[in-house]
Amino acid sequence: MKHIIQKRHILVGLSGGIACYKGCDLVSRLVQLGAEVRVVMTENATRFVGTVSFQALCGSPVYTDTFGSVDPGGIDHIRLTEFSEIFVILPATANVLAKMAHGLADDLLSTTYIACNCPVLAVAAMETKMYNHPATQVNLKLLEKRGVHVLHPETGYLASGKKGVGRLPGRERIIERIALVLGATSYLAGKTVLVTAGPTQEALDPVRYLTNPSTGKMGFAIARAAMRMGAQDVHLVTGPTELDTPFGVKRHDVVSAADMLKAVKPLAGKVDLVVAAAAVSDFAPEKVSKTKLKKSAQGEKTTLPLAQTPDILAFASKNRKKGAVVVGFAVETDKEIQNAMGKLKKKALDYIVVNNPRNEGAAFGGDTNRAVILDAGGNRVELPLMSKDELAERLLELVSGKLKK
Ligand SMILES: Cc1cc2nc3c(=O)[nH]c(=O)nc-3n(C[C@H](O)[C@H](O)[C@H](O)COP(=O)(O)O)c2cc1C
Repeated sequence: MKHIIQKRHILVGLSGGIACYKGCDLVSRLVQLGAEVRVVMTENATRFVGTVSFQALCGSPVYTDTFGSVDPGGIDHIRLTEFSEIFVILPATANVLAKMAHGLADDLLSTTYIACNCPVLAVAAMETKMYNHPATQVNLKLLEKRGVHVLHPETGYLASGKKGVGRLPGRERIIERIALVLGATSYLAGKTVLVTAGPTQEALDPVRYLTNPSTGKMGFAIARAAMRMGAQDVHLVTGPTELDTPFGVKRHDVVSAADMLKAVKPLAGKVDLVVAAAAVSDFAPEKVSKTKLKKSAQGEKTTLPLAQTPDILAFASKNRKKGAVVVGFAVETDKEIQNAMGKLKKKALDYIVVNNPRNEGAAFGGDTNRAVILDAGGNRVELPLMSKDELAERLLELVSGKLKK
């Protein structure tokens, strides 16, 4: 993500909503990620947060007045359009959305909007009734139809004290969309991708199952990164997780390894790239009891007959489209490289990503990972501890080199 945001020229437009204060956090984060940020505010926005805060955070004077020139000798709204690679309007008030939809240009923000030809991302936030009003809904649809990227509000606690739809989406979601808009032309342009993620649950009886601690974060990070890198279609087949679907990704929810195979089957032969990051259970109870197994019916020691689950990765590799690339993941606790290389060869993979949960910060659960990527030619890329998002990008960058252009 950082390499997409770094050195990019981002214009942030604030209109007069209560969520203006969250704009400070966003601008600060964008600057930390290396972006060059300029800020334009409506007069009403300055009633919520002063220009001084934004000036300090982005290191440049804040633009508020169509007729007061910040850049000597220039016309501000034209200068701003020349500067910006993306115009992010947040919070986008009902009023500003209406002005954008109808082409009104009666202040610096709306005048800049109508004069600019860079991508625009409007992040809407307002009270539920304002958001649900037919006028706002029609305006949003019209803007989307014209190519404005719209990030719709989330449901949650609102300034009025009520709960409902209208809340500004979280900072990382906004940055994700900015990166998606800015990065949507690169490594995976036009490619179709299948990612598997999360654990599987193998039922023993109606209330028990075998599983593992996978949260799905690595696979979801890969699906998100694939979207950012311009993939045309990203299918995410996932076991049970709490994670939100990344924007634009087609999600297929499954529970067991057998379900996962069923979901993968119609997709495996159609996509250009398969990344199997799911932690599929290798074994499942041989029989699933229809009723809860009673403790009293078992002896003090009991055995649980297990059967091997289907090999989804081997299936995807064997049934791949001609020229498609298949990447597997291996969680190994000992002889990592040797075991992973064995798996790569046995399943005829192009790459395998090995991680060891015994290394601090690696594998299950957390937001970080540390991995070694091996390829069929015996090459080896060692990646130090990094966020799963960054690892996903590094992996897809590497792998995309092998995909036919
Ligand atoms: C305390 C307060 C909070 C407000 N929050 C919002 C909001 O979150 N979203 C919105 O669309 N309007 C909100 N409004 C109403 C706008 O400030 C009002 O429609 C204003 O005309 C918008 O001006 P602008 O779009 O030129 O910045 C709020 C008003 C007040 C007084």
